[in-house]
Amino acid sequence: MKKRFDKTYKIISNKEICAGYFELKVKSGNETAQACSPGKFFMIGVPDVFLRRPLSIHDTKSGVISFLYKTAGKGTEILSKMKTGEISMLGPLGNGYPLESSNPVIVAGGTGIASVHYLAVSLKKKGTLYYGARSKKDLLCLDKFKKAGWKIIVSTEDGSKGYKGFITGILEKKLNSDDFIYVCGPSPMIKAVIKIAKEKNTGGCVSLEEKMACGVGNCQGCAVKIKGQNKMTCKDGPVFNIEDVEI
Ligand SMILES: Cc1cc2nc3c(=O)[nH]c(=O)nc-3n(C[C@H](O)[C@H](O)[C@H](O)COP(=O)(O)OP(=O)(O)OC[C@H]3O[C@@H](n4cnc5c(N)ncnc54)[C@H](O)[C@@H]3O)c2cc1C
Ligand code: FES
Repeated sequence: MKKRFDKTYKIISNKEICAGYFELKVKSGNETAQACSPGKFFMIGVPDVFLRRPLSIHDTKSGVISFLYKTAGKGTEILSKMKTGEISMLGPLGNGYPLESSNPVIVAGGTGIASVHYLAVSLKKKGTLYYGARSKKDLLCLDKFKKAGWKIIVSTEDGSKGYKGFITGILEKKLNSDDFIYVCGPSPMIKAVIKIAKEKNTGGCVSLEEKMACGVGNCQGCAVKIKGQNKMTCKDGPVFNIEDVEI
């Protein structure tokens, strides 16, 4: 039985790390932190907003859980103003990334970097991170990945850092069949990576970010097609085998 908790936690800090991106740290205590693993997420309660919002675990250390998020709408805007006090959280939820891989390759786009950071520090064997963003100012955590021993290849759509264009353009040239890819990012990127993985016969897994209401499999709001069947991203995922995802 997976352990999950529905309770309030003390906010340690909630800082803007660069324009529009925040890192929230909460004092979780050891029991909640020990139930966490890379790829899992929490539903975060925000005042005056009906539904809780899903955020991936960015890191856990010494009874502290951190989240990295971009202000996207009403919920995350209000969240970004919560600097002290208590926050209600349900989790950890979902199934995380498999942690055994001899040739790991991480592919991240946009805020997908939030969830794969915890993966990158947890995997024993380090590999290459392929990271695409709109512009140089949207590239986050590069120093953290470097410090954790990852080789980094970046691309930006405006060419302000790294290769100009989508990260899938470089991935296509470099991916090998004995690599194992971990993917998290926007749907068009995920679609493109699935196609490349099929062509190269490369295995891996994908973390999907469908819109969520309940986060626990009750509302059917986050259904996706997996091997021809409807599965719930929150309960059956968010991490799925790359060969099984039909998007
Ligand atoms: C499993 C999971 C993990 C996520 N992890 C992160 C993360 O670590 N960092 C981060 O910045 N973002 C993450 N997201 C996306 C984040 O949940 C949305 O940006 C956020 O819910 C937007 O809420 P809002 O009220 O600010 O925006 P609004 O657009 O006003 O939200 C309205 C509704 O849409 C849902 N929603 C809107 N956009 C998304 C989206 N892209 N994905 C899922 N639901 C959405 C909200 O939950 C809400 O119910 C994750 C999403 C999922 C499903
Ligand atoms: S969010 Fe309700 S079933 Fe997944």
